[in-house]
Amino acid sequence: MLVAPSILSADFGNLAKEVEAICKAECDFVHVDVMDGHFVPNLTIGPVVVEAVAKSATKPLDIHLMVEDNNFFVDLFAPLKPHFISFHIESERHPNRLAQKIKNLGIHPAIVLNPHTSPSQIEYLLEYVDMVLLMSVNPGFGGQKFIPNVLEKAMVLKEFILKRNPNCLIEIDGGVSNKNIYAIKNAGVDIAVAGSYIFKHPKGVKEAINSLKV
Ligand code: DX5
Ligand code: ZN
Repeated sequence: MLVAPSILSADFGNLAKEVEAICKAECDFVHVDVMDGHFVPNLTIGPVVVEAVAKSATKPLDIHLMVEDNNFFVDLFAPLKPHFISFHIESERHPNRLAQKIKNLGIHPAIVLNPHTSPSQIEYLLEYVDMVLLMSVNPGFGGQKFIPNVLEKAMVLKEFILKRNPNCLIEIDGGVSNKNIYAIKNAGVDIAVAGSYIFKHPKGVKEAINSLKV
């Protein structure tokens, strides 16, 4: 399992140190949650802060957009050369066009599905993206409870992926911990995002990240 700590649960007063710590602990990606206060009822960080994160990070960035105007935010973050930029299918009228734009910028495009959204909605998008991010909580906040039917959804998605684009990765985001990581792995997920579990772990981020590498 690849592990992408979500810095949403980090101590923002010590962000550089927090980012250095997860990278030193050999996380695979640094997951950055961008919220606009419209698509989701929360507001997070913009390019100035993400640029600082990019400077401290020695692992690639995984930018998760939770915004209404995806195109605008892709233009803002593209200069930081993240590994992934993911956007929600629920907020985009032209997902195929946007995925191609992201790819042409030299960034791996990914599509995100809210808990209620069926994988069948993106069947014909799969060959244009490098990853599907399945939300296992309603987007907007860290520290929420894992929605278990996402595991069934991951297995349904895997069938579509095998048919349309076997190289496409599956990422899961929300409520991930050492308690559900084996079930997540068995459902065919490649990358686990975890925020509160990693940053609030009593034994520190290294121990937390290691416990998710199953
Ligand atoms: C929620 C964000 C997540 C969040 C996960 O909208 O996309 O990345 O930080 O936090 P935990 O792991 O605490 O559920
Ligand atoms: Zn996220």
